[in-house]
Amino acid sequence: MKTNHVHFTLNGESVEVSIEPWTTLLDYLRYNQKLVGTKKGCDHGQCGACTVLIDGNSVNSCLCLLVSLEGKEITTIEGLGTAENLSTAQQIFIDEDAYQCGYCTPGQICSTIAMRNRGEINSEEDLKDWMSGNLCRCAAYKNITKAARRIYEES
Ligand code: FES
Ligand code: FES
Repeated sequence: MKTNHVHFTLNGESVEVSIEPWTTLLDYLRYNQKLVGTKKGCDHGQCGACTVLIDGNSVNSCLCLLVSLEGKEITTIEGLGTAENLSTAQQIFIDEDAYQCGYCTPGQICSTIAMRNRGEINSEEDLKDWMSGNLCRCAAYKNITKAARRIYEES
């Protein structure tokens, strides 16, 4: 079976793998690395549940082939904080009660961090536009928006 070699950083650790060229980042994270905080919703770029950070930008990992990530820095929800030591963004989501079932939450948090990293939000509409790629089937949008605003302004 044909494989390709790729090297990247995953949650602060250097990783080298030989992998089939059709492997998505999402499948690699969930099935090879057992990092199941990154969720599979639609598996074709429509829900945002699989959002992770690559070099600080939000990316739908279901649309990204692992072999394209040579030299990149990948961060998943597990790399942001732990249950004992939550990141500021994770704590804000809890404080604002910005979830119900929680399935979309890792992707929502990664998107808010990318939004903060980009720093181009000038209005509530800008914020909602940015977050529009992350669907929430529980419709917890009101509190997700509050949490996202706080993360943008405070963290
Ligand atoms: S699982 Fe990737 S966008 Fe839905
Ligand atoms: S909290 Fe359930 S999908 Fe968003």
